[in-house]
Amino acid sequence: MGSLKFFLMNLIFSPVYEGTDVLVCYASQTGTAANLAKQSGEIIQGQGKTVTVSSLSSLQPADFDRYPQVLMIVSTCGEGDIPDDGIAFYNQLQTQPALNTRVSLLALGDKSYKQYCIAGRLFHDELLRIGVAVDEDPILVDGNPVKQWQQWLEEQTDITVEDTAAFETEKDLTLKLVENTALHQGDNGGNQAHRLVFKIDAEEAFQYQVGDLIGITPPGEKRERLYSIASGPSVKENHVELCVGILSYQEKGETRYGKCSRYLTSELNKGEPIAAKWKSGGGLALPAADQPAIMIATGAGIAPMMCLMQERVCQKHTADNWLLFGNRKSSEDFYYQQDLETLEKNGSLTYLDTAFSRDSEEKVYVQDVLKTQAPRLAQWLLEDKATLYVCGRPGLKPAILDVTREALAAHLNDATQAEETLAELQASERIVFELF
Ligand SMILES: Cc1cc2nc3c(=O)[nH]c(=O)nc-3n(C[C@H](O)[C@H](O)[C@H](O)COP(=O)(O)OP(=O)(O)OC[C@H]3O[C@@H](n4cnc5c(N)ncnc54)[C@H](O)[C@@H]3O)c2cc1C
Ligand SMILES: Cc1cc2nc3c(=O)[nH]c(=O)nc-3n(C[C@H](O)[C@H](O)[C@H](O)COP(=O)(O)O)c2cc1C
Repeated sequence: MGSLKFFLMNLIFSPVYEGTDVLVCYASQTGTAANLAKQSGEIIQGQGKTVTVSSLSSLQPADFDRYPQVLMIVSTCGEGDIPDDGIAFYNQLQTQPALNTRVSLLALGDKSYKQYCIAGRLFHDELLRIGVAVDEDPILVDGNPVKQWQQWLEEQTDITVEDTAAFETEKDLTLKLVENTALHQGDNGGNQAHRLVFKIDAEEAFQYQVGDLIGITPPGEKRERLYSIASGPSVKENHVELCVGILSYQEKGETRYGKCSRYLTSELNKGEPIAAKWKSGGGLALPAADQPAIMIATGAGIAPMMCLMQERVCQKHTADNWLLFGNRKSSEDFYYQQDLETLEKNGSLTYLDTAFSRDSEEKVYVQDVLKTQAPRLAQWLLEDKATLYVCGRPGLKPAILDVTREALAAHLNDATQAEETLAELQASERIVFELF
């Protein structure tokens, strides 16, 4: 679109609004965009304006017209994908006729990926098409977004954003490996994982939270890998524990290994300092003390569940916990078996269910075990207001959603209502996924 036409389109629409001044919305996979959106909200509110902060999963495009100004922060995830919480909105946006508000979009990404900031660009194209984009080009951010975000917010709101530590969403850390224990038994020919405990350099000591992530770039690589923190923040001061699954696959008759998982589990020496990044949020957040938790994990997906469980025990949460863990063989890869069985014995885990696909002829996966517990699942979700956490391979998401949909439909005796409830549970983050 030519600059003049673009300028005129922005000038023509000047409708009158009532209510909230600014909507700050986001699509975020690992929490950065969400975090910046929340901080934007606080800053705007601090200047006496009214503001709503929302994930795109709770909005429809037409909602934008209830606000005179909309600020959007959209990250790109996977291999050039739109974050889960932005997909439904984007699909609707593509069929949306013109809107009247004014939207500025900050696109978060990383140049080391092939499809740099593609999700933000896709959204921006639609905003241009419907005539609401304030900027002719999307504002693209490579890597740590704090500086550019501050500048963008200042430009959009005429507010001076102070450069304070309160805006930190990530922090450089120096970690030293102090413990490295295999979580699998023997050479099980696959599905291997290690429990790695790191000491955080004393000068950088800080308090992480449940749901925070650690970013590590293996030597000789540009791309950072993220890991869920597997230890409860209150459990051991200045230490952080990871559960790292060793990625391996066959290529041309040879076993190949993932760079970072191999490096961390098999090449890194104890005591050797490594550079890492702490990333605030983005993982699975702690439920309220009285809110039950259903945790479904496969393989190294157990990592964030160990953090949740440890913290819930430490903080003396009173609500029930149900963990369903899946892997190949109970005798070889029941990660954290002792810890989990102790939690079950002492009542911290109300239910500990397992699915080991290679224990029997008939392959049984977590979704199959969950299906046998459909009435309990529906009751925990609908009556006890539990949160369902799922962590593992991307294929888990459709499988768990299918079982949950069926369980809700049986409980409600109404398939349409079950579908709506499922969508609501996801939008309100009572069903959350961490997939890798
Ligand atoms: C939010 C988040 C949290 C995470 N938490 C954890 C965690 O707690 N624990 C954990 O272990 N991991 C976690 N991960 C995954 C982790 O970030 C890395 O992706 C993982 O360790 C693999 O990295 P790598 O360097 O070992 O593999 P890489 O060297 O990056 O290799 C991966 C590449 O190998 C190739 N590949 C993989 N499988 C095959 C195959 N079958 N055939 C051919 N090619 C193949 C693909 O090209 C793939 O891109 C998380 C990821 C995210 C996004
Ligand atoms: C697993 C993974 C995949 C990513 N894929 C892309 C990508 O394809 N293109 C891109 O520009 N950035 C990509 N990024 C970078 C993110 O967009 C960037 O880190 C952003 O700040 C994350 O925002 P979020 O935490 O709100 O999801 C990826 C990051 C991760 C961890």
